[in-house]
Amino acid sequence: MIYQIYPRSFADSDGDGIGDLPGITARLEHLADLGVDAAWLSPFYVSPMADAGYDVADYRDIDPVFGTLADADALVAEAHRLGLRVIVDLVPNHTSDQHVWFKAALAATPGSPERARYIFREGKGEHGEEPPNHWRSVFGGPAWTRVTGPDGLPGQWYLHLFDVTQPDLDWTNPEVREEFHDVLRFWLHRGVDGFRVDVAHGLVKAEGLPDWDYDHGLLDSTEKLGRPPMWDQDGVHEIYRAWRKVLDEYDDRVLVAEAWVEPPERLAKYVRHDEMHQAFNFEYLTTRWVAADLREVITSSISATAAVGAPTTWVLSNHDVVRHTTRLALPLSGPKRPNGIKATDPQPDQVLGLRRGRAATAVMLALPGSAYVYQGEELGLPEHTTMPDDARQDPTFFRTGGTVAGRDGCRVPIPWERNAPAYGFSPSGRSWLPQPESFAGHAADQERGVPGSTLELYREMLRLRRELGLGLGELEWVDDLGGDDVVAFRRGEVLVVANLGGEPVPLPSGTRVLLTSGPLDEQDRVPTDTTVWLTPAS
Ligand code: NOJ
Repeated sequence: MIYQIYPRSFADSDGDGIGDLPGITARLEHLADLGVDAAWLSPFYVSPMADAGYDVADYRDIDPVFGTLADADALVAEAHRLGLRVIVDLVPNHTSDQHVWFKAALAATPGSPERARYIFREGKGEHGEEPPNHWRSVFGGPAWTRVTGPDGLPGQWYLHLFDVTQPDLDWTNPEVREEFHDVLRFWLHRGVDGFRVDVAHGLVKAEGLPDWDYDHGLLDSTEKLGRPPMWDQDGVHEIYRAWRKVLDEYDDRVLVAEAWVEPPERLAKYVRHDEMHQAFNFEYLTTRWVAADLREVITSSISATAAVGAPTTWVLSNHDVVRHTTRLALPLSGPKRPNGIKATDPQPDQVLGLRRGRAATAVMLALPGSAYVYQGEELGLPEHTTMPDDARQDPTFFRTGGTVAGRDGCRVPIPWERNAPAYGFSPSGRSWLPQPESFAGHAADQERGVPGSTLELYREMLRLRRELGLGLGELEWVDDLGGDDVVAFRRGEVLVVANLGGEPVPLPSGTRVLLTSGPLDEQDRVPTDTTVWLTPAS
């Protein structure tokens, strides 16, 4: 199991209210104790933080807010001492506008080699006053911004699929490719075990940058509209084949694609034998709490990755989506992937969300393949759904004129000790995003050693997953266990039963409960929104 650390919000050692590398190092035992195999760290590089570090100004150094290169080395060494591997985040689709390359591009003239590292184009219209095409930014608003030339006059436009401060690199330029090979080697030499590759499906744009008039998120309905010209172009694969060769110069390192791509067969292309090792399964993440939908996505995910001989992956939460302990309580009529929840929105039932969240994780951690857990989900943390607008920091909120809440609600610093300042996140009590009062009851020290707590449930699931080898092997569906609203499958000796329906489900005879995501009812039946792991009674 891979545990995602969001450095800004994990643990702050120096009291500035922003998490840092020494803070992480000091808390790594929490991961080892939980039973984690590897930690993936969201970006910690030098950055003006316009997109919380996904706007990188220097790929070979640490932002002072997070620490130093020596702190990174110490973190990797301590993780390895504890038997944990370390995966770092690489952001190749765009740099920060504060990167030396972009500064040089702005100072240079159209047609110069400095501009050729990015996607600069002349505008349309008589005076070039119209953007080169109609693409929209993922964060809202146009994907093009016009620059003022060195002569002080309005000049070319540059592409930014994300924030205006995140210019897209031009991956048709060999210099860009070389630079990233070098960045890979820089971190591989320092001993990191692999990379999570940001927006891996976005690096290559369709030839000629054809118009695309639709608003688009990271994952678009390719079925309805065809493949958008900015995502999942076939040319990306040759980039990852070259990266794989670089990784193969070292022992046992991994590449993980953040690719919002569907259907699963397209995603599977990223994990062919000579490309990446794993790709996030976002179709699984966006699947609703509906038995038939779950069965379908599990089946299609397994068969798509099996066809290319790669492990399937499973993920329910990360720093870009509403935490699943809250998301699963939202009405089915809403969007599959809501972009944050505001204080003025209808408030989800957190008790229902946590019950479903635990049941959903108990399904996920029984599946074959690699599972990803986002910091705080082992504490049952909910999304912060009542954050004041004036505390928000996600560019999505600003680029949509405050109409879309964005991702701050899942990025709130996590609670360690109920009675410490900022719940143990920071010695000064500061916290870059406000923590809701409900976090007090979820603090790690309130759950550690407490039977039935979410933390103990995760520990037990991970212990059994390892002991029973659930990450490997086949999955066999069981159809006759209580109707359509029951998801039931066998993993060797283990029978997993998740009840998504309204009626309690009796335990099959001859079985013994290994683990349950919530209490059984008085008649020892599996109540609604509960998952059990069973084993033969004898
Ligand atoms: C995906 C990252 O997960 C997200 O947080 C970021 O804003 C975009 N990529 C742009 O880098």
